Order: sequence, then C-alpha cells, then structure tokens
Amino acid sequence: MLHLSKSVFIFALACVLSVRSWEPRRQVAKTGGFCPSAVSFRAYAKQDLEYCYEKLNFQKELVQEQAAVCEQTIGNLTQAFTDQVQNCRSLLDDAIESETLLTSQLTKELGKCISANNPELVSIKKSDLIEYSTGTYYISKSFERTNWYMANLFCKNNGMELASVETKEESDFLISMFGGSTDKFWLSGTDLGYENYFYWIGVGILIDPFWYFEVGQPDNANNNENCVQYFVHPDISDATYKWNDANCEEAERFVCEVES
Ligand SMILES: *[C@@H]1O[C@H](CO)[C@@H](O)[C@H](O)[C@H]1NC(C)=O
Repeated sequence: MLHLSKSVFIFALACVLSVRSWEPRRQVAKTGGFCPSAVSFRAYAKQDLEYCYEKLNFQKELVQEQAAVCEQTIGNLTQAFTDQVQNCRSLLDDAIESETLLTSQLTKELGKCISANNPELVSIKKSDLIEYSTGTYYISKSFERTNWYMANLFCKNNGMELASVETKEESDFLISMFGGSTDKFWLSGTDLGYENYFYWIGVGILIDPFWYFEVGQPDNANNNENCVQYFVHPDISDATYKWNDANCEEAERFVCEVES
C-alpha cells in the first residue's frame, strides 16, 4: 500500500508540473500522452493495485507452500519420534525378559551348586553349632539339601561326621531340634557295605541295640534303599520322626555331629 500511494503521489505531482520527460512505467499510461486523462490515470492506478494483489497472492502461496512443508516436516518428525519410542519400548521389554531369564537360570545354578555339587562351598558357622550332652551338632539349613554321600563329605570337610544316634535321649533331642518341619535328615547309618546290616559309619558300630526305624522299615524298597534318614511317614496318621532306609541319591537335609 505504501508503494501504491507513493507512485500515485509522484504521478500526480508529475501531472501538475507538466513534466514532459515523465516516462510511464506501463504501456497503458504512455497512450495518454505526457499527461494522462482521469480515465487512464484511474486505469493505471487500478493496474498498479492488481500488480500489488498479484504480488500479495504470490507471497501468500509461497507462505502456504512453506507452511505445508513445515507441517510435513513436523509430521515426519512426530512419526520418527513415535517409531523411536516404540523401538525403545521393545528393546526394554527384550532386556527385561532376558534379565528375568538370566536371574532364574542363575538362581537354579546356585541352588544346584549348594545342594549337590559342591558342599565345600558352604562351611559351618560356629554360632550354628548346637551343644548337647551327647555331642555337638549341626543341622543343615533348609536350603542345604544333598545326597547322602555329599552330606557325609560336607560334615567331614567341617571336622564332623554324619550323626550317629545311639540312644533314645539323643534321638529325642535331635527331633526337638527339627523345629516341627517334616523335612528328611540324613544320618550316618547305612547298609551299603553289607546288605541288611546297618552301621553307623560315623562311629563304626552296628545299629544296635537302639533301633528306631518306623514300622515296616527298613524295607529296601525297589532294592535301592541303603541310607538312613529321619522322616515322618506320610501315610501314617500321627506319625512322628522315625528312621527310614532311603535311596542314598535323594537330596535331603542332614545332621552332622562330633561325639562327646
Ligand atoms: C516426509 O516423509 C516422506 C515419506 O518418507 C518424504 O517423501 C518427504 O520428503 C518427507 N518430507 C519432509 C519435509 O521431510
């Protein structure tokens, strides 16, 4: 608009001063001679206005075009961002899943390590030893379960033997220490050396005369039971801890002893 009014002003001034040398910018103005009539003047002003509109329209289209590109860019960036978030989520999910898997594998391995393969890894704390008139005892913790052979090794590695139970008094004391559980506990009794002759190998004597097997035991079930454990018979109501011959390979808790 400023451009337009400036042209009009200059043009009007030119008319008033009758400047012959005035050169019109446009062809249409030239036809009116050195001083155009009011009609051609108006035509010229109108054309200038149209020129201005054209230019404005052009600018408007340019801006619209740029706005469209901007919108597209924003759209593309938004899409890229969403994709990245999605990607991160699935990476995170994968990581969590594999971490869970690893943790459970580790836990399993650790359990195996403690229970069966490597009893030397665990050593007995002095504060866990139990003193009694018949001896000093260690009752394995509920996570310390292993076969009879490894239980034997564990006790020996800690300067003890699997427990040998020679009297009712000693037996009652040990049962009182099992704390109401129904876990099984390996003792040093075995007939591995001579079938049907059970020895306390912790002290090297025959299981005699104190005989504390459950009714019907030892039965050498499946011809495969040679190691003595405390157990609570699952099929006898009101059963209390008694001895049983069991498969030496079973992973169970155990009792170590140093005789007094
Ligand atoms: C937006 O993405 C489309 C498809 O990938 C592409 O053709 C276009 O050039 C992109 N536009 C901008 C402004 O980046």
